[in-house]
Amino acid sequence: MSDRSATNSSTAPAPGSRRLLKLAHRATLVAPSILSADFAKLGDECRAALAAGGDLLHVDVMDGHFVPNLSMGPAICDCVHRALPEAVLDVHLMVTDPAAYIESFAKAGAAHITFHIEAVSDPLPLVAQIHALGLTAGLAINPDTPAAALEPYLTDIDLALVMSVHPGFSGQKFIPSVLPKSRTLRDAAPRGLRVEMDGGITPETAPACRAHGCDILVAASAIFGRNDYASVIAALRA
Ligand code: DX5
Ligand code: ZN
Repeated sequence: MSDRSATNSSTAPAPGSRRLLKLAHRATLVAPSILSADFAKLGDECRAALAAGGDLLHVDVMDGHFVPNLSMGPAICDCVHRALPEAVLDVHLMVTDPAAYIESFAKAGAAHITFHIEAVSDPLPLVAQIHALGLTAGLAINPDTPAAALEPYLTDIDLALVMSVHPGFSGQKFIPSVLPKSRTLRDAAPRGLRVEMDGGITPETAPACRAHGCDILVAASAIFGRNDYASVIAALRA
């Protein structure tokens, strides 16, 4: 592990903590998901996505249990953080046991951690742990989970993530029937809560997401693999 990780105690706030909340200057934030980046040149890909207007980097973590795929762990997050220390790393845990990984990702430079409500019986201890580490905290719902599952926790969290594909893979088709859930969460949310949509976001599907209250749009395949990241990111935000 890096020197920086070694000097970070489990109770010390992460450097740049709460930065997600400080991105309030833009009404709609775009979060390029590095899941579709070329991992052989990950630093360059991240740098290009931010230079093209990406506001934060979305880090999709899959354990092969909660979703039928494996992706990346804290070591990759740590590499990205060390290569781009100012980047706001938005970690999305699609794992059966989020408690096992929160401290590792905080030490690896995450600014924000979202975990799934379907994975826990009581999210509040983990939300408190994330906050104690100096990070912002989010809760995610799968396409088949109702918005009501998050409503009791909206005053405790900083971000509600609505999945618009079944999690596990990039490049899937947007599921429009989830849109009313983001509207419900936006209308029920306290001021300042971010509502993030994730999956199948393109310049064609982004307007409906924005119209239904989403203010962070995650996109992997719509950005990475294209020739011009900037025009796609501008189109998502417009
Ligand atoms: C899906 C991940 C998404 C994914 C989005 O399980 O949570 O963040 O990377 O990929 P696209 O934008 O290609 O649907
Ligand atoms: Zn994601």
